[in-house]
Formats: sequence, C-alpha cells, structure tokens
Amino acid sequence: MTRRAVVTGVGHYLPERVVPNSEFEATLDTTDEWIRARSGIERRHFAAEGETTSDLAANAARAALADAGVSAEDVDAIVLATSTADLTFPSAATMVQAAIGMTRGFAFDVQAVCAGFVYALSNASALIASGQADKVLVIGAETFSRIMDWTDRSTCVLFGDGAGALLLEAQTGEGTTDDRGILATDLNSDGRYKDLLYVDGGVSTQSTGYLRMQGNQVFRHAIEKLARTAETSLERAGLTNDDVDWIVPHQANIRIIQGTAKKMGLGMDKVIVTVQDHGNTSAASIPLALSVGKQRGQIKPGDLIVTEAIGGGLAWGSVVLRW
Ligand code: ACO
Repeated sequence: MTRRAVVTGVGHYLPERVVPNSEFEATLDTTDEWIRARSGIERRHFAAEGETTSDLAANAARAALADAGVSAEDVDAIVLATSTADLTFPSAATMVQAAIGMTRGFAFDVQAVCAGFVYALSNASALIASGQADKVLVIGAETFSRIMDWTDRSTCVLFGDGAGALLLEAQTGEGTTDDRGILATDLNSDGRYKDLLYVDGGVSTQSTGYLRMQGNQVFRHAIEKLARTAETSLERAGLTNDDVDWIVPHQANIRIIQGTAKKMGLGMDKVIVTVQDHGNTSAASIPLALSVGKQRGQIKPGDLIVTEAIGGGLAWGSVVLRW
C-alpha cells in the first residue's frame, strides 16, 4: 500500500483584459504574423491595475476547491509557485490562505520561474507521501505583465498573466502504475545558465527590474532537457512514452512544444496546447492547461499525464501522474 497525492479538483482564473498580438503593432516594430509564426501566441490576458498575483491565485484556488467539493477549512497546506508575488513578504500563499478563509495549516511560496509548478507539485506530493498533510492546494499564479520592458519586442510579446490550481488529496494506492495520483517526479537546475533568463532587479538591488532573456539560447536547451526529464520521470514510474495519454507542457512556445513531443515520439494529438490563448504565464501555464484540458473534455479520469517545464535558472523538471 502506498500513500499517493491524487488530483481531486482543478480550476483556473484569467484576468478579464485580453490583448491580441495586433495591439503591439502600434508601439513596437513587430507584427501579428511574426509573433504567431515564431511563438504560436495569438493573445494573452493582462491583470487590471491593482489586481495582484494573490488575487488571481485565490480565484483559481476557489475554483479548484469547488471542483473537489472541499471546504478551505479542510485544507492542510498551500504551495504556491510564483516569481511575481504581491510583496517581498509575506508569501502570496499566506495571502491566498487569508482570502479563501483557511485559518489553520501552513502556506508557502516556491520560486523556480517557469518550472515553478512542477517544483510545487513535487514538494506537495512529498508532503502528502510523508504524512505531513492530507489535502494540499498547489497553485501557479503570475503577473508577468508587471516585469515586462514594453520597449523590448523580443520579450514583451511573449508573456501573460493568469493562475491555475489543483487540490491534491492523500489516497492509498496499490503501489502500482495503475494507481491514481503522482507516480514520479524529476527536478533539475543548473545555475551556470543564470544569465540566459533573469530579472535585472530585486530586493537586494532596491529595484523591481525587467525580464531579460536570450530567447534563442534558452530555446537551444529546451527541447533536449524537456524530453530527457519527461523520460526520466516515466522511467522512475516504471512506464514508457507509449503509456502516455497526455503531455501537458509548459506553454512558452509552440515550436518547443512540438519539438519535445517529436523527440519523445508522440503526436500532437497527445499534447494539451493553450499557448495561443494565454501566452507564457510562467508557473501558471501548466495548471491553466490542465484545467482547460479538463474543460475541453480532453483529460479524463485514469489518463496518464506527463507535465514538463523549463525556465530561468535554468531550472527544469517533470511530473508523471495518473488523473
Ligand atoms: N517581432 C519581430 N521581430 C522580432 C521580435 C518581434 N516581437 N522579437 C525578436 N525579433 C527579431 C530579432 O531581433 C531577430 O532579428 P535579427 O535576426 O535581425 O537579429 C530575429 O527576430 C530572430 O530572433 P531570435 O531570438 O533568434 O528568434 P527565435 O526564432 O529564437 O524566436 C523566441 C524568439 C520566440 C523568444 C524563442 O527563442 C523562444 O521561444 N525561446 C524560448 C523561450 C522560453 O522557453 N523561455 C523559458 C521559459 S520563460 C521563463 O522562465 C520566465
């Protein structure tokens, strides 16, 4: 018998304002065609003035709790992945805790940029497996519009705001690959690549800063590292690429998503794609894609899912779970 972290609820929230690619044509030397062709992005959502990451996260958390039919008072922990928390401290997770009316348990943020959600899922799974928590809300939430340099066409057209959440609950499985829940994880980082993708400000430099990225260099690393981490997780679970029902990748660029699927020998009919509608929402992109994938009727109970992501650090990883 094995304690497993099983997904019992999923939900998401997107800010109201939708910004199509064409809006950038007025202020930047860019076109809708370039953005679509090079990234697959068609539109993204931007948070309203005064709308913060914890606001988006709390809405996604409420949706996941409603989906699971679980009350906030019964949640033991919140693990929130973000690089754009409202304040330096306290954590956005504690703000969500207060907003949803959870007065017990514990809450903390995880910061691994675009890989944040797989890091958060892996940590939440470990909390459940070790018996430290029975019900954990795992949230990815970002307001990357706040760290864009609006004069830099190579970055500001790529990112968006949003939040997604899963409720994980402890269930006892047989210890086989047929069990529901998280079956294996793989986390990696290599700080030698920290200059490929970073924000040029922070508390210690007394500024907020803007996102800076050598996109083509990140691209060079992405497909190989993503395919390898996905295969490592599958191997740890005792499964192969042929067992996969859905890849739910970090939604940064359709060319990376297609290249990774191809490297794994899987067709695009096995990939959940939302990048056209959300852009790159960093740590929010995987839970957003899981929630939309379920809404579309693609993801069904019992499906074997691999999530994978890479981002600033570089940090990358994957999670294999049965829905
Ligand atoms: N419109 C028009 N032209 C542009 C634009 C734009 N918006 N942006 C860049 N260009 C130009 C460049 O200036 C360059 O022009 P040049 O050849 O005259 O110098 C040309 O287009 C090609 O630029 P590249 O950067 O080589 O283009 P590429 O095909 O690599 O696409 C992109 C760029 C979309 C950024 C891609 O490299 C990418 O997606 N990289 C990975 C991003 C990623 O996955 N990041 C990790 C997650 S994010 C996180 O962790 C926060």
